[in-house]
Amino acid sequence: MDQEARGRASAKEAELRGVTTDPVVHGHGFHSTAEPQMQEPEVVVVTTTPAEPGSPHRVVEGDRLDILDQIRSPGCAVSIWKRKARWPLLDRLEELSPEQLPELRMATDPDHALSALGTEVQRLGLGDSSFGPDLLEDASKLVRSFCSVMKTNTVRLRFDVIRSEACRKFHLDNVAARLLCTYRGRGTQYGQFRTEGDPDPIHELATGDVGLFRGQLWPTGEGSSIVHRSPPISQGGETRLLFVIDDGGPEAGC
Ligand SMILES: [Fe+2]
Repeated sequence: MDQEARGRASAKEAELRGVTTDPVVHGHGFHSTAEPQMQEPEVVVVTTTPAEPGSPHRVVEGDRLDILDQIRSPGCAVSIWKRKARWPLLDRLEELSPEQLPELRMATDPDHALSALGTEVQRLGLGDSSFGPDLLEDASKLVRSFCSVMKTNTVRLRFDVIRSEACRKFHLDNVAARLLCTYRGRGTQYGQFRTEGDPDPIHELATGDVGLFRGQLWPTGEGSSIVHRSPPISQGGETRLLFVIDDGGPEAGC
């Protein structure tokens, strides 16, 4: 790594630790989240038993969007925004045939995510779909939140229509952090890494809940001991709609 790259890496690490550094060095825009910033979020520690001493293992949950900021706190491997109630959009998505669900990927930024998604949905011939603007507005809100938390101004995002057991093994993604929201079907499963066998217990995000997971490239070097996978698909032919946001680095699978 050359000196300039080391400088960028250390600035990124400082940002994610919440340390003020010279803005000229890192220079990313800081975008506020769509939801009002109020008091300290109510944090619920869900997982507290480390499989490997010293490894980050905390999973925190809250019922406000700003809970996602907690991913930057030491030892936090996953932050989860639990939505308060199932909302009508999820029911409308459930009623659509798989062909009516958006399947797309793009690179964009928080200021243009909504318009770029709208253009792409039109191109797919889904502009009149019953999910209307609600899905795209919710997704673009998550893009703004991701960019705010991760101090980045570029993202890769994708809507995956999943009909098979893709990514069925527990793993960490080859990214700094990944935001996952399943708008239709069962949510992502996660749990404490074990050297032998799958996590026990296995937790599962609810449909519509948002999980921000640290990946292998988390810049502070703390990493994560919370692994995840796609839920097993039932034999009844379930089709899931998964929304994924990565930072603007190289594209990574699963
Ligand atoms: Fe993954």
